[in-house]
Amino acid sequence: MLSSKNKEKIYIRCIESIKSTSESNKLKFISKLLFESFDNWIFCGFYFQKNDKLLVSEYSANKIPCSPIEFNGVCGTAILKNKILNIKDVNTFQGHIVCDNDSKSELCIPFDIDGTKYVLDVDSNIYNAFCEIDEKYLVKIIKEF
Ligand code: SME
Repeated sequence: MLSSKNKEKIYIRCIESIKSTSESNKLKFISKLLFESFDNWIFCGFYFQKNDKLLVSEYSANKIPCSPIEFNGVCGTAILKNKILNIKDVNTFQGHIVCDNDSKSELCIPFDIDGTKYVLDVDSNIYNAFCEIDEKYLVKIIKEF
């Protein structure tokens, strides 16, 4: 497990790269950068709302993610409640949509881009992977849009 200090250092470095990148596709850059920065992450990407479904946007992952997905999963619930969902054990979340059997914990952060509802979704292959530090820095990162 990463110490809190090391985790913060990684996020601070990521934020510097995001602020200074010349890559115009920020969603793509962010998903790849974060995915490659944390060893236990198995998915890092964005879903957005299209009618009554969520479609995957830019992502980095070990496996091709499911898309479209319904609103009853972690991503959709985060959007519907407009609330960060930090699920320590995905098996305890009724409605959790399994895209990769290795996923053990998941963090979803809802936000808007030009009136479209998005969620930043991160999955880990360990239980209890995400804490307030992840929430704090990922919220900062999505504010970069
Ligand atoms: N587990 C999510 C689906 C997306 S994948 O994790 C990439 C959910 O329950 O909405």
